[in-house]
Amino acid sequence: MCGIIGYVGTRDAVAIIVDGLKKLEYRGYDSAGIAVHGAGGFEVVKQKGRLSALEARLADNPLAGHSGIGHTRWATHGEPSDINSHPHIGSRNRVAVVHNGIIENYKQLKERLESKGIPFVSQTDSEVVAQLCEYYYSGDIMDTVIKVVNRLEGSYALGIMCLDEPDALIAVKKDNPLIIGVSGHGNFIASDVPAVLRHTNAVYYSDDKEIAVVKKDGVQFFNFDREPVAKPLETVAWNADSAEKSGYAHFMLKEIMEQPKVLRDTINSALSGDNRAVIDRLDAARFNRVAITACGSAYNAGVVSKYVFERLCGMTVEVEFASEFRYRETIIDDKTLVILVSQSGETADTIAAMRAAKSKGAATLAIVNVVGSAIAKGADECLFTAAGPEIAVATTKAFSAQLALLYILAVRFARLRGRLSEEEAREKLSEIAALPDQVAGILGNTFGIQKYAASCVGYKSIFFIGRNIDYAIALEGSLKLKEISYIHSEAYAGGELKHGTISLIEDNTLVVAIAGCGRLHGKIMNNIEQVISRGAKVLMVGGPAAREDEKLSALALPDCPELFTPSLSVVVLQLLAYYVAANKGLDIDKPRNLAKSVTVE
Ligand code: F6R
Repeated sequence: MCGIIGYVGTRDAVAIIVDGLKKLEYRGYDSAGIAVHGAGGFEVVKQKGRLSALEARLADNPLAGHSGIGHTRWATHGEPSDINSHPHIGSRNRVAVVHNGIIENYKQLKERLESKGIPFVSQTDSEVVAQLCEYYYSGDIMDTVIKVVNRLEGSYALGIMCLDEPDALIAVKKDNPLIIGVSGHGNFIASDVPAVLRHTNAVYYSDDKEIAVVKKDGVQFFNFDREPVAKPLETVAWNADSAEKSGYAHFMLKEIMEQPKVLRDTINSALSGDNRAVIDRLDAARFNRVAITACGSAYNAGVVSKYVFERLCGMTVEVEFASEFRYRETIIDDKTLVILVSQSGETADTIAAMRAAKSKGAATLAIVNVVGSAIAKGADECLFTAAGPEIAVATTKAFSAQLALLYILAVRFARLRGRLSEEEAREKLSEIAALPDQVAGILGNTFGIQKYAASCVGYKSIFFIGRNIDYAIALEGSLKLKEISYIHSEAYAGGELKHGTISLIEDNTLVVAIAGCGRLHGKIMNNIEQVISRGAKVLMVGGPAAREDEKLSALALPDCPELFTPSLSVVVLQLLAYYVAANKGLDIDKPRNLAKSVTVE
């Protein structure tokens, strides 16, 4: 979490850094700060609160310079406050640092420096980097940085400025994302590509244990032994507009609306584009087991796909939170395919799960949105979701793209394992290829969802139920609702209600029942009647409602084969969550306490 950016070039660094921070705010938004090389040394402005608060401070205390670094924070060590905001400045004002990650041995380092009389002003782990740099600095900043990084334990992407070198920024990466952008007017460091897209599509993806020396007219890379490293300059396919709201009230709504295109691009890429080659290379016959591991919504995509894999391929599929997978004595071997699902490709637990899987000899396949991310680079094979930059903290379009790739993968495995004939496989793929238009149909008329959402704002708790694959997508509907609307919510398998949960149902409890699974329609209808007869109100998503009245409302879904209906019901659930939160006037793109990229454990 946290976003870092730096610029050195011919233009006003302050405007560029503030604009870049806006694109990185999804990574953390409890405080922000900026430092530039001013005429008389470092000039720093830091402010607790949203970036808008920093902008207001900057309006009163304007900074000017052609090189600088900025930071948007998601607090780990030390509460959100002005003093704990980055950049941190060394005690002799010669080094300024922004940091994303966690310095695990900061206490020992801090105690050592304090015993030498070096004063600390913040409660952060990050300040130790600035103070260590000051401590070791004797005129050669590269030498200093190498000494410092060799003493740090933990994860870090660092942006460092040295007072004596106003024309250079130093950037270091270990276990946290970092890119270097190259443009005609200057060069950048950033946590993520959207921060630089307005200026350039040309980027270097920094690798772990690399140091970049970024000047206005060039970039050099070194390893921690100060040996030069050659790297390719890559072109990012995303365009600057994709990181803008384009007239929508929120990024989340824009991203929901982009889903038909995202699905189309992702499906095309899997059927005949870059992803196709990867899918073709997978030796399905080698695997007797699939283990899917991920966090949050990406985990939910895995749960949906478990039903698809098992039904189509007859294979054992396990899905586990990456935070559990990494610490469990999972029984996996070289006959296991471990699928890692991640939008950012930087989620700390998913990276650790990938490493655990590899250490046990399993084959790893990543499904990732961000090219150049740690998981994209670390996995044996990688399929890319064509979602473009996803800025809203709550994922929508990346989730839909993950589902599409998982479906196609399941069809491919089923074909290779002889469970589907060529013709049946083709038919399944054409059903998947029809999803973008069906999603567009839902998005073309959201009136019913908006109307229903307006009536939901008063609920303290909302339950989601479903059977079979509908239960899997209920998990996602519930997560979406709770994270952006702050309404408590749980998802249950419909059949489980009577084993305990039904005691929570009382007059006017709201239950959202997903009913896309035709085979079990009668069963979910039973569950619906059970909760209605105990006072609940029910919103049914999909399936024909036996009746509609004061207690039972329904939102229909387009006709779709049962296995792929989650791709449709999730869109209704995303919109429901979005409009409930919008009706509550909440900060939808940046829900409290969350950050998009969870790069700490
Ligand atoms: C929820 C959400 C999160 C992410 C999770 C994993 O809307 O976005 O639950 O799905 O933090 O992130 P990635 O996919 O980047 O690994």
